[in-house]
Amino acid sequence: MSKRYSVIKGFRDILPPESEQWQRIEEQARRLFQAFGFREARLPVLESTELFTRGIGETTDIVAKEMYTFSDRKGRSLSLRPEGTASLVRAYLEANLAQGGPVKLFYSGPMFRYERPQKGRYRQFYQLGVEALGYAGPAVDAEIMVMLRLLFEQLEVKNAVLEINSLGCRECRPAYREKLVAFLRGIKGELCEDSQRRVEENPLRVLDCKEEKCQAAVRQAPSVLDFLCADCRSHFDGLKKYLELWETPYRVNPRIVRGLDYYMRTAFEYLAEDGLGAQNAIAAGGRYDGLVEELGGPNVPGIGFALGLERLALLVPQEKEIKASLDYFIVYTPTMQAAAAKMLLVLRRRGARVDSYLDAPPKSLRAQMKLGEKSANQLIIIGEEEYQRKMIIIKNLITGAQMEYKENEIPIAGQPQKVMA
Ligand code: HAM
Repeated sequence: MSKRYSVIKGFRDILPPESEQWQRIEEQARRLFQAFGFREARLPVLESTELFTRGIGETTDIVAKEMYTFSDRKGRSLSLRPEGTASLVRAYLEANLAQGGPVKLFYSGPMFRYERPQKGRYRQFYQLGVEALGYAGPAVDAEIMVMLRLLFEQLEVKNAVLEINSLGCRECRPAYREKLVAFLRGIKGELCEDSQRRVEENPLRVLDCKEEKCQAAVRQAPSVLDFLCADCRSHFDGLKKYLELWETPYRVNPRIVRGLDYYMRTAFEYLAEDGLGAQNAIAAGGRYDGLVEELGGPNVPGIGFALGLERLALLVPQEKEIKASLDYFIVYTPTMQAAAAKMLLVLRRRGARVDSYLDAPPKSLRAQMKLGEKSANQLIIIGEEEYQRKMIIIKNLITGAQMEYKENEIPIAGQPQKVMA
């Protein structure tokens, strides 16, 4: 026997019926994002490494430890994208979109991070993300949070909780940072090794370390919300006002800091109260008003989020009745194979989702029916006697009901139907 191969650690195959559940989620999300004025951007999975070191920040875990980075044949350093925001801003600048005023874009696709795999955390994972560029006020911050709330409602995800924070800006964050570092130096001995390193390098990240001892140690840490300048405070108050206006419940959590350096002002996460375990952030994002400039563009504000498709899929209830992927499966008696093959083309041309077993050697009618029961909601039965009268039988596999139809009047979902008496 030849050698078999396994999928790489942290990577997954998404097969039916899971892939079909993903399609439903993606379709719903696309429709909703478009209803909010977002248009699609399709971006490459490979970028120059520097885009991420500059965009996300050299000292972040994502850049320092988690990127899939390699040299191409000409020795250029490339990385598989660990997220979509930096790529989208690059594309936005390259296409000169800033000239046309505010822009709302969405994207989807695989991202890559060399993390320790566990439930809801993979090395290749899928994100659905949106970015709004050129909107400075808090209305759009609330709008994208409301959009996620509506998506969860439509998908019947019940336990998603919105947490918001403000991280301040270039004006007010330095004073907070200074206070925080002074506090953290005092409790350094109580922190895990990673957090100890971060005290000087990236002190805000210490606040969201998942280690219990770190969480206990930072309980008395100064809150960023006490240090906001007047503009940041009024932005945060505006956000809360819009969320209230749009009936979207939220909790203020001054511990949300996010793992990417580009954020300022608004930061938020939708957390699953149960069902996801430790990796409970379904979607997360925030405002990144300095990023476009950092990547060589004009001073354009931005905000967005990304949601993790694997995590969302774990929370979406499975459809109650098992929904088959086909409308019809055609079964036939031995002499009717050509009639079945012809009918396949006619129905497929009309837009029906239909299949049949035409492979050799032929299967018995019973065996064909078994195949059909696994994949379709209804069977079309072609028998010699009926076919001479130009009739076929449709058997509904959910109700068990059986009816004769004229061969050329087979009803197709979404098209006007003529039901026979
Ligand atoms: P992020 O928090 O790194 O933000 O990722 C967003 C979401 O992607 C997470 O909340 C989670 O659902 C999912 N996710 C992240 N890592 C993994 C993983 N290893 N396995 C499975 N799911 C994962 C960003 O990526 C930002 N670009 C979001 C953003 C857009 N901010 C502004 N605009």
